[in-house]
Amino acid sequence: QLSQKSDLRARRILTRSTFATKAQTVKKTLQAGAAAGKESFSALQEERREQAERSVLISCPPNINQKKFLDYISKHGHIQNHFFYQSYGIYAVVEYATKDSITALKANCSIPSVQHEAAVPFKSRLLSLKWTGQGSQSNASNTLKLQKHLPIPVNELTQHLCKQESIDQQLQCLTDLYQLTEENISLRFLVCSLLRDIAAAYFPECIIRPFGSTVNSFGKLGCDLDMFLDLDGISGQNQRKGSGLSLEYQVKQGTSERTVTQSVLSVIGECVDQFGPGCVGVQKILNARCPLVRFAHQPSGFQCDLTANNRVAMKSSELLFVYGKLDARVRHLVFAVRCWARVHGITSSIPGAWITNFSLTVLVLFFLQRRTQPLLPTLDQLRDLADPSDQCVIEGNECTIVSDLSKIKLQKNTDTLEKLLQEFFEFYGNFAFSSTSINIRKGKEQNKPESTPLHIQNPFETGLNISKNVNTTQLERFVALCRESAWLLEQKEVLKRSAGQSADVIPPWGLAALLLPSVAQSAGVKGRRKKKHHPASERIKSLLESLKSSSGGAGAKQSAV
Ligand code: GTP
Ligand code: MG
Repeated sequence: QLSQKSDLRARRILTRSTFATKAQTVKKTLQAGAAAGKESFSALQEERREQAERSVLISCPPNINQKKFLDYISKHGHIQNHFFYQSYGIYAVVEYATKDSITALKANCSIPSVQHEAAVPFKSRLLSLKWTGQGSQSNASNTLKLQKHLPIPVNELTQHLCKQESIDQQLQCLTDLYQLTEENISLRFLVCSLLRDIAAAYFPECIIRPFGSTVNSFGKLGCDLDMFLDLDGISGQNQRKGSGLSLEYQVKQGTSERTVTQSVLSVIGECVDQFGPGCVGVQKILNARCPLVRFAHQPSGFQCDLTANNRVAMKSSELLFVYGKLDARVRHLVFAVRCWARVHGITSSIPGAWITNFSLTVLVLFFLQRRTQPLLPTLDQLRDLADPSDQCVIEGNECTIVSDLSKIKLQKNTDTLEKLLQEFFEFYGNFAFSSTSINIRKGKEQNKPESTPLHIQNPFETGLNISKNVNTTQLERFVALCRESAWLLEQKEVLKRSAGQSADVIPPWGLAALLLPSVAQSAGVKGRRKKKHHPASERIKSLLESLKSSSGGAGAKQSAV
């Protein structure tokens, strides 16, 4: 057991040192990457993290004048970037050129004296700008450009989709409307950085890194903010050779990595709850497979999940990012399938037996690997192309993937998005889920190692199934919807845009038609019994009729998703 432990530790150190070397070469990589028009995942994340450390988040009075605001804030240093957005009031994100400016700005801030209550005197980078009563309060607030941080409702989305000229354009339009903006990503990194300031009270060298859809390039506006507390940088070796002596810290010991993670998260969660300005509804979910602290960050409007010791999830995010970068069609298809699944209740924000967005994304990647001309390489191919500096083993799991994307030679696949979408639905409408496992490492179907309804091998922890939670009902709903959508995409009424009553009112077609409430789904479980009496063609006929009659009112019954 002991040797196993030291082996594990050695592997962790290997990963850590890889990361440290990476951090040192970030600048170089960034320059080279920027010149080549592409940046490696870790370099991009480091750049954003560093920007966030030079940034502050300021709540502004409602009638703030942009020029006056910037004049005042720039007294403390050169502003590199800034933007405004509305959450509970107007907020500004200000990125200074250097960190010193923040020290100067903070020197000018005071702890408010609150009436009837008492303030926790924690000096964070979340600030409030107040009028002092001197000078004029200009009312030029209407000149403020406010960034949007939430997706448009589905009925508005379908109207946009209907106006496009082709299904390919519809998928591109969906991505444009839903994807995270640069500003939204900056705000996410800033929230991580603000939380780091709290955790740094105990662990000064810690980093809080975002992972999941914030960084994997498949994030939709409004998605949660997954973060992990990275303490690995603290545990570097500092052995002086030759003296025969070495000093080490005395530390408390837990019975396992898990118990240490739980106690660290418990304390940080408590600090976030007691001292974190804007952090509300803090829940410590420490007994989950992956212990976490969940809370809402009110100034940004983000639902946050803070985990620790979660480097494999970060690697999965990098993997998805790499796949998203290889071909623009990957992101368009993933956004379309995720949106379609959400509208039809295949995915849900409530934890349960539903398919998750992560699993859905892996389903799309696998489908793209299985094309006659594969659009994407397998994970084993990405590993084989890796440089020695890309080597990464996390907790005994082989997690190496190539970071230099120019080494990846893609096959010439020229499928349109329309074709890919249609064949995605056909592929999974007829997939042998009962006997077969989905495996993006090999890019091939494998025999199922266990009897869960849906088996998608975890790309890095290959003994695990990422869709273990999915029950038969949910899988059947997914398959039924895939079949229905594949059928719809063969109908000429659905494939072509028809003239509406006016230019603004076009009957739903293409992707917009797929987002209409489904006959199979609205019938629910009862409907599955009914299906026996109603052949598929009849169900589809009624769906088509509803399509034809609903000109322009697309998705009127659908709520915002
Ligand atoms: P959203 O639904 O937009 O939040 O997508 P997401 O990709 O951020 O998914 P989620 O918040 O559920 O999970 C965050 C990350 O954790 C994912 O991107 C994966 O890297 C990882 N993850 C999620 N579910 C699993 C799982 O079942 N197994 C493993 N190993 N990792 C998971
Ligand atoms: Mg997430």
